[in-house]
Amino acid sequence: MSQKAKVITVFSEKGGVGKTTLTTNLSVSFAKRGYKVLVIDMDPQGHVGKLFGVEPIKQNILSFLIKGEISDSIIKKTRVQNLWVVPSDWSLADFTVNVARDPARHLKLRKAIDNLKDKFDIIFIDPPPSLELITLNILLASDGVIIPVALTYLGLAGVAATLNIIIQTKKSFKYSPGIIAIVPNMYDDSPYSKELLEKLKSSLGKAVSKTVISKDPEIDKAQSFSATVIEISPDSQSTKNIEKLTDEIILKLGL
Ligand SMILES: Nc1ncnc2c1ncn2[C@@H]1O[C@H](COP(=O)(O)OP(=O)(O)OP(=O)(O)O)[C@@H](O)[C@H]1O
Ligand SMILES: [Mg+2]
Repeated sequence: MSQKAKVITVFSEKGGVGKTTLTTNLSVSFAKRGYKVLVIDMDPQGHVGKLFGVEPIKQNILSFLIKGEISDSIIKKTRVQNLWVVPSDWSLADFTVNVARDPARHLKLRKAIDNLKDKFDIIFIDPPPSLELITLNILLASDGVIIPVALTYLGLAGVAATLNIIIQTKKSFKYSPGIIAIVPNMYDDSPYSKELLEKLKSSLGKAVSKTVISKDPEIDKAQSFSATVIEISPDSQSTKNIEKLTDEIILKLGL
C-alpha cells in the first residue's frame, strides 16, 4: 500500500449509469479487504450518505470546499469497518456561484482533500451527473477514473463523450486522471447485450475491464434498505462481479 491515498472517481458524463452504485460497492469491497477508505459525496443528491445511513452534516460541505480544507468534523464513520464518508448536501449546488471570482476555482477540491491523503489508502469521489465546475474539480483532484458504461445503445454512445471530456481536460489544464478501466454495467445475457459488449470491446480494446457487472435486481433491493448489495447479498451475481472488479483494480494500480 502506498503512503498517500489514491483518489479514484467512478466517472461518466451520463446520468444513471451506475456511478454511485459502483462507488459505494467498491468502497465497501476495499474496506473489507483492510484498506482505509473514504467516500466523498460531491453530488448534491446525497445518495452516498443515504446508502450508508449517514445523516447530512449540520455545517454545509460548501463552506469546507471554499475554505479549501475538509476537516475531521465532517468525516463520518459508517457501519462498515474501515469506511468513512463525507456526506453532501444541497449547498453544493451553489458551488459555481460562490467560487466564480476565485482564480483557483477549478482546484478547490484538490486542495480541500490534500490533507486527507495521509489518513486513507483510497479516496473515492462520487460525482454528480453534470458537466459543471464541480466535475472539473473532481477530474483535477483524481488520480484515476473508472468509467461505467450501461450496455444500452445510448450508454455506448456516451462513452466517447466521457472520454472526450478527459482529453479536453488534459488539453486545457495539462492534467487529466488516468483511465483505470471502462466497466460494462447492466449486462443481461441477452443476444443484444452480448452484441453491445462486443462492440464496446472492439472499439476500446484493453481499456475495457475483464469484469462485466450484471443487471441484478438485488442492487436496487439493497439500496431500498439503505445498503449496498455487497453488504447484504453476498451470494448475488453483482457482489461476485464487484469482488472481481476489486481484484482487477488492485492488480492494475499495484495497491
Ligand atoms: N448492475 C445493475 N443492475 C441493476 N440495477 C442497477 C445496476 N447498476 C445500477 N443500477 C440501478 O440504476 C440506477 C442508477 O444507478 P446509480 O444511481 O448508481 O447511477 P448514477 O450514475 O450514480 O446516477 P446519477 O447520475 O443520478 O448520479 C439505480 O436505481 C441503481 O439501483
Ligand atoms: Mg450518482
